[in-house]
Amino acid sequence: MTSQQPASRRTVLRGAALAGVAGLGAVACDGKGKGSAVPTAPVDLGSSGEVPVGGARLFREQKLVVSQAAKGEYRAFSAVCTHAGCVVDKVENGQISCPCHGSRFDAATGKVLQGPAGEPLPSVPVRVTGGKLIAGPES
Ligand code: FES
Repeated sequence: MTSQQPASRRTVLRGAALAGVAGLGAVACDGKGKGSAVPTAPVDLGSSGEVPVGGARLFREQKLVVSQAAKGEYRAFSAVCTHAGCVVDKVENGQISCPCHGSRFDAATGKVLQGPAGEPLPSVPVRVTGGKLIAGPES
Protein backbone atom coordinates (compact mmCIF):
# COMPACT_ATOMS: atom_id res chain seq x y z
CA MET A 1 0.00 0.00 0.00
CA THR A 2 2.62 2.48 1.06
CA SER A 3 4.54 1.87 -2.15
CA GLN A 4 1.46 2.91 -4.14
CA GLN A 5 1.02 6.19 -2.38
CA PRO A 6 3.94 7.97 -4.04
CA ALA A 7 2.81 6.62 -7.40
CA SER A 8 -0.69 7.87 -6.93
CA ARG A 9 0.67 11.20 -5.75
CA ARG A 10 2.79 11.34 -8.90
CA THR A 11 -0.29 10.59 -10.93
CA VAL A 12 -2.13 13.40 -9.21
CA LEU A 13 0.77 15.76 -9.79
CA ARG A 14 1.01 14.76 -13.42
CA GLY A 15 -2.70 15.33 -13.74
CA ALA A 16 -2.26 18.75 -12.22
CA ALA A 17 0.58 19.50 -14.63
CA LEU A 18 -1.57 18.50 -17.57
CA ALA A 19 -4.40 20.59 -16.23
CA GLY A 20 -1.93 23.46 -16.06
CA VAL A 21 -0.98 22.95 -19.69
CA ALA A 22 -4.62 22.70 -20.65
CA GLY A 23 -5.17 25.90 -18.73
CA LEU A 24 -2.47 27.62 -20.75
CA GLY A 25 -4.10 26.34 -23.90
CA ALA A 26 -7.34 27.88 -22.81
CA VAL A 27 -5.62 31.20 -22.21
CA ALA A 28 -4.04 31.03 -25.65
CA CYS A 29 -7.44 30.32 -27.14
CA ASP A 30 -8.86 33.26 -25.25
CA GLY A 31 -6.10 35.36 -26.73
CA LYS A 32 -7.28 34.30 -30.15
CA GLY A 33 -10.81 35.03 -29.06
CA LYS A 34 -9.69 38.57 -28.53
CA GLY A 35 -8.63 38.15 -32.14
CA SER A 36 -12.20 39.08 -32.91
CA ALA A 37 -10.74 42.55 -32.40
CA VAL A 38 -8.75 42.00 -35.56
CA PRO A 39 -10.35 41.51 -38.98
CA THR A 40 -10.84 37.98 -40.23
CA ALA A 41 -11.39 39.16 -43.80
CA PRO A 42 -9.79 41.96 -45.85
CA VAL A 43 -11.02 45.44 -44.88
CA ASP A 44 -10.87 48.31 -47.38
CA LEU A 45 -9.77 51.45 -45.51
CA GLY A 46 -9.85 53.74 -48.53
CA SER A 47 -7.06 55.80 -50.02
CA SER A 48 -3.61 55.20 -48.59
CA GLY A 49 -3.19 59.00 -48.67
CA GLU A 50 -5.51 59.23 -45.66
CA VAL A 51 -2.69 58.22 -43.36
CA PRO A 52 -0.07 60.95 -42.97
CA VAL A 53 3.62 60.14 -43.35
CA GLY A 54 5.09 60.13 -39.85
CA GLY A 55 1.62 59.92 -38.36
CA ALA A 56 -1.33 57.64 -37.86
CA ARG A 57 -5.05 57.60 -38.29
CA LEU A 58 -7.88 55.98 -36.41
CA PHE A 59 -10.48 54.12 -38.46
CA ARG A 60 -13.06 54.00 -35.71
CA GLU A 61 -15.74 52.17 -37.64
CA GLN A 62 -13.34 49.43 -38.65
CA LYS A 63 -11.71 49.46 -35.18
CA LEU A 64 -8.26 49.84 -36.65
CA VAL A 65 -5.37 52.27 -36.36
CA VAL A 66 -2.94 52.62 -39.26
CA SER A 67 0.39 54.39 -38.94
CA GLN A 68 2.92 55.32 -41.59
CA ALA A 69 6.30 55.85 -39.91
CA ALA A 70 8.01 56.55 -43.24
CA LYS A 71 6.62 56.85 -46.76
CA GLY A 72 5.00 53.56 -47.72
CA GLU A 73 5.74 51.90 -44.36
CA TYR A 74 2.26 51.20 -43.10
CA ARG A 75 1.46 49.32 -39.94
CA ALA A 76 -1.98 48.53 -38.63
CA PHE A 77 -3.23 47.67 -35.17
CA SER A 78 -6.51 46.76 -33.60
CA ALA A 79 -8.14 49.83 -32.07
CA VAL A 80 -9.66 47.69 -29.31
CA CYS A 81 -7.87 48.46 -26.06
CA THR A 82 -6.23 45.41 -24.54
CA HIS A 83 -7.23 46.53 -21.04
CA ALA A 84 -11.00 46.09 -21.08
CA GLY A 85 -12.02 46.29 -24.70
CA CYS A 86 -12.94 49.94 -25.24
CA VAL A 87 -12.23 51.32 -28.69
CA VAL A 88 -9.45 53.89 -28.57
CA ASP A 89 -10.61 57.37 -29.49
CA LYS A 90 -7.58 59.50 -30.24
CA VAL A 91 -4.37 59.35 -32.22
CA GLU A 92 -2.17 62.32 -31.46
CA ASN A 93 1.54 62.98 -31.38
CA GLY A 94 2.32 59.37 -32.18
CA GLN A 95 0.19 58.11 -29.31
CA ILE A 96 -3.06 56.19 -29.33
CA SER A 97 -5.28 56.95 -26.33
CA CYS A 98 -8.06 54.95 -24.75
CA PRO A 99 -10.85 57.05 -23.22
CA CYS A 100 -11.94 54.47 -20.65
CA HIS A 101 -9.03 54.28 -18.20
CA GLY A 102 -6.30 56.32 -19.85
CA SER A 103 -4.09 53.68 -21.46
CA ARG A 104 -1.79 54.97 -24.17
CA PHE A 105 -0.08 53.05 -26.96
CA ASP A 106 2.71 53.86 -29.37
CA ALA A 107 1.10 54.47 -32.78
CA ALA A 108 4.17 53.15 -34.60
CA THR A 109 4.48 49.88 -32.69
CA GLY A 110 1.25 49.32 -30.73
CA LYS A 111 3.30 49.05 -27.51
CA VAL A 112 1.88 50.18 -24.20
CA LEU A 113 3.18 53.61 -23.18
CA GLN A 114 0.88 53.96 -20.19
CA GLY A 115 -1.29 51.42 -18.40
CA PRO A 116 -3.50 50.05 -17.08
CA ALA A 117 -3.32 48.07 -20.35
CA GLY A 118 -0.57 45.47 -20.08
CA GLU A 119 -0.54 44.14 -23.63
CA PRO A 120 0.27 45.93 -26.87
CA LEU A 121 -2.46 46.51 -29.45
CA PRO A 122 -2.58 43.46 -31.71
CA SER A 123 -0.83 44.00 -35.02
CA VAL A 124 -2.93 43.54 -38.17
CA PRO A 125 -1.51 42.88 -41.64
CA VAL A 126 -1.92 45.87 -43.96
CA ARG A 127 -1.00 46.49 -47.57
CA VAL A 128 -1.64 48.98 -50.36
CA THR A 129 -3.49 47.62 -53.37
CA GLY A 130 -4.39 49.95 -56.21
CA GLY A 131 -3.82 52.99 -53.98
CA LYS A 132 -6.10 51.62 -51.27
CA LEU A 133 -5.17 50.44 -47.82
CA ILE A 134 -6.34 46.93 -47.21
CA ALA A 135 -6.08 45.55 -43.68
CA GLY A 136 -6.56 42.02 -42.52
CA PRO A 137 -5.72 38.69 -44.07
CA GLU A 138 -5.31 38.18 -47.81
CA SER A 139 -8.64 37.22 -49.37
FE1 FES B 1 -8.71 51.04 -22.38
FE2 FES B 1 -9.28 50.44 -19.84
S1 FES B 1 -10.30 49.79 -21.65
S2 FES B 1 -7.75 51.75 -20.59
